[in-house]
Amino acid sequence: MRTTFLPFSTPTLEDAEINEVVDSLKSGWITTGPKVKRFEDAFRAYVGAPYAVPLSSATAGLHLTLLALGIKEGDEIITTPMTFASTVSMIILCGGTPVLADIEPGTLNIDVAKVREKITPATRAVIPVHFAGQSCDMDPLFALAKEHGLTVIEDAAHAAGTEYKGKRIGSLDSISIFSFHPNKNITTGEGGMVCTADETLAEEISLLKFHGMSREAWKRFAASGTPNYDILLPGFKYNMMDIQAAIGIHQLPRLDGFIDRRKEIAEYYNRELADVAELALPTYAPYQQRHAWHLYTPLVKVEKLTINRDSFMDELKKLNIGSGLHYKAIHHHSYYREALGIADSDLPNASYASERILSLPLFPKMTDEDAADVVAAVKQVITDNAR
Ligand SMILES: Cc1ncc(COP(=O)(O)O)c(C=O)c1O
Repeated sequence: MRTTFLPFSTPTLEDAEINEVVDSLKSGWITTGPKVKRFEDAFRAYVGAPYAVPLSSATAGLHLTLLALGIKEGDEIITTPMTFASTVSMIILCGGTPVLADIEPGTLNIDVAKVREKITPATRAVIPVHFAGQSCDMDPLFALAKEHGLTVIEDAAHAAGTEYKGKRIGSLDSISIFSFHPNKNITTGEGGMVCTADETLAEEISLLKFHGMSREAWKRFAASGTPNYDILLPGFKYNMMDIQAAIGIHQLPRLDGFIDRRKEIAEYYNRELADVAELALPTYAPYQQRHAWHLYTPLVKVEKLTINRDSFMDELKKLNIGSGLHYKAIHHHSYYREALGIADSDLPNASYASERILSLPLFPKMTDEDAADVVAAVKQVITDNAR
């Protein structure tokens, strides 16, 4: 057994990030300023989006996008139950009604056929989540959205570097929202970015992110600026800081390398765990795409074991292997169980995955030995607890 604890994820930060943060601190521009602009431009160019709005988090991005689209009481937004709470919470906090459509069993991405079944005259938008960094099947989803006049908002929190049929997520004909939380494929500490081709929407989100102010602080306080400003609408305080962007500036050029390493480890897990009957491994979607391997999420077939998924994670921890839970399905959380009243039989695939899923360690700094330790620990827990 390994003697040190292997976390489920940890960011890959080097001297370049540290020096850039120090530069920001020494420069006096610690909040929204030139480094945010540099990161925004670099990220927009990387994904191929006409407009990008840097924010304090992806949650802020979801919130402002829904507000800018005018989502209000009575509007229904279809999304997946296999997501982080904020995808659904932001719909509710805008006064909308989340409607959950079931997932595909292998990729755990939203099932477009199930989305179709959930459309009503009140449906305004669909929020697919590119689960674990694997693109949803966007062509049929766009066709469906067009047929019914719906807006597609991609929750791309897992999908920096993901591609769908040769196109980067962020450059499709929709709105994409990325997260730079420390576990994500690149980080800014906390942070998010909304990418879109819609100039008016990008402007509206930019206004909403900073008090509805006509000009941002760095434009007012820079030598060439004027301190006067006007409030055009009531807004939030969701701007990204230069200290955050300083990290992102040096993460972004390494993103492709990070994904290559993540893929190597994921494919090693796929090979080494392929014959383990007690696991259902994640599968590749049949269409051409680039999986960014944000997460590696096998399902533990608990019916073949004497322990449940939570105990499985505890047993891994005893062997010094960390794991994550992405996700307990939305309708299994207390609030949503009450608020949405969804039965497991309404979402059978998500309900099945919710009780069995776990995230194994996956991050670029992991060594081959770390990955071998994970495989050995998973097999040991299965052998020790077989039915
Ligand atoms: C699918 C999904 N959506 C949204 C978010 C929210 O991102 P953030 O933490 O940047 O607000 C996350 C973060 O974990 C996520 O995984």
